[in-house]
Amino acid sequence: MEPIRATITAVGHFLPEDKLTNFDLEKMVETNDEWIRTRTGIEERRILKDPDKATSYMAAEAAKEALEEAGVQPEEVDLIIVATVTPDYIFPSTACLVQDAIGAKNAFAFDLSAACSGFIYALTNGAAFIESGRYKKVLVIGADKMSSIIDYTDRTTCIIFGDGAGAVLLEASTDGTGIIDSIHYTEGDTNCHLVQKGGGSRYPASHETVDQHMHFIKQDGKAVFKKATVGMADVSAEIMERNNLTPDDVKWLVPHQANLRIIDATARRMGLGTEKVMININKYGNTTAGTIPLCLYDWKDRLSNGDGLILTAFGGGFTWGAVYLTWGGK
Ligand code: UT7
Repeated sequence: MEPIRATITAVGHFLPEDKLTNFDLEKMVETNDEWIRTRTGIEERRILKDPDKATSYMAAEAAKEALEEAGVQPEEVDLIIVATVTPDYIFPSTACLVQDAIGAKNAFAFDLSAACSGFIYALTNGAAFIESGRYKKVLVIGADKMSSIIDYTDRTTCIIFGDGAGAVLLEASTDGTGIIDSIHYTEGDTNCHLVQKGGGSRYPASHETVDQHMHFIKQDGKAVFKKATVGMADVSAEIMERNNLTPDDVKWLVPHQANLRIIDATARRMGLGTEKVMININKYGNTTAGTIPLCLYDWKDRLSNGDGLILTAFGGGFTWGAVYLTWGGK
């Protein structure tokens, strides 16, 4: 008999309607469309402008859509994991707010912090609960309102990030589809190459932290770029090798959308042509934990049961990894 696997049976998403284009950014900072497109692949991003809405709103909308697609009632959900670096509050967790918003009264819920690798870390966590045999239905959500921590006077970061959320429903399966393998790495970055310093217990919010822009993202782009390129390419090649996969076995690469050049390097290392790579960075920019489920959402109608997918991400921490799964959706 096949082992119990966690398989993705439905995907939902939320994207705010407002767009921030490269041409809009040209009016805000010293940059230009050509630089942004050629260095990152980004043309526009979505921004959640409504001041009354935050990450939990986007996460809940994505979750509702996934449940509806699966025909699963909120009360049937056992667990909700939200990967985010932009929680509504320090606590309670955004997952608790989602649990209430969608009426998943029988689910327990928690957030997971792994920056841009948040979704794949959360996916593996959710899968482990199902593989244990104790849980049957787990919502894994990647959601970030990056505009809430972006300094729109800093051209090195404001051109990159956008807002959005994606959610997948994981269900127990014994038909052979589902999450087959995962590799995760962490390398504690005490130099803080990618960091939001203010607002935590080291630098609690104060006039000084606000004056010094410490509640915004700071990134040493070059240093992160080098690490991300090697990290994502190596771990993707490693998971292929460990599972004896040839490029023919991989139907789709689902990479974190941080920079088109990082994505291209990863695909090349895996021996995959661009026709097998999910790319939507041009439309949404880097939505941090949202990128991978948003790709799955955009491509869901082109996926068939049993298709081999490799998901890979790199992010602040540093955190990175890859997940090999076969598609379980219809
Ligand atoms: O998702 C989490 C992980 N994050 C990532 O993976 C992001 C990794 N890093 C990157 O994607 C890239 O490093 C960036 C897109 C952030 C920057 O691209 P780059 O090719 O590494 O540029 P750079 O930092 O080496 O800067 C090159 C030049 C500099 O000018 P000088 O010193 O050569 O005169 C920058 O000041 O480009 C300048 N520059 C800009 N010019 C126009 C930096 N930002 C901009 C800008 N518009 N927005």
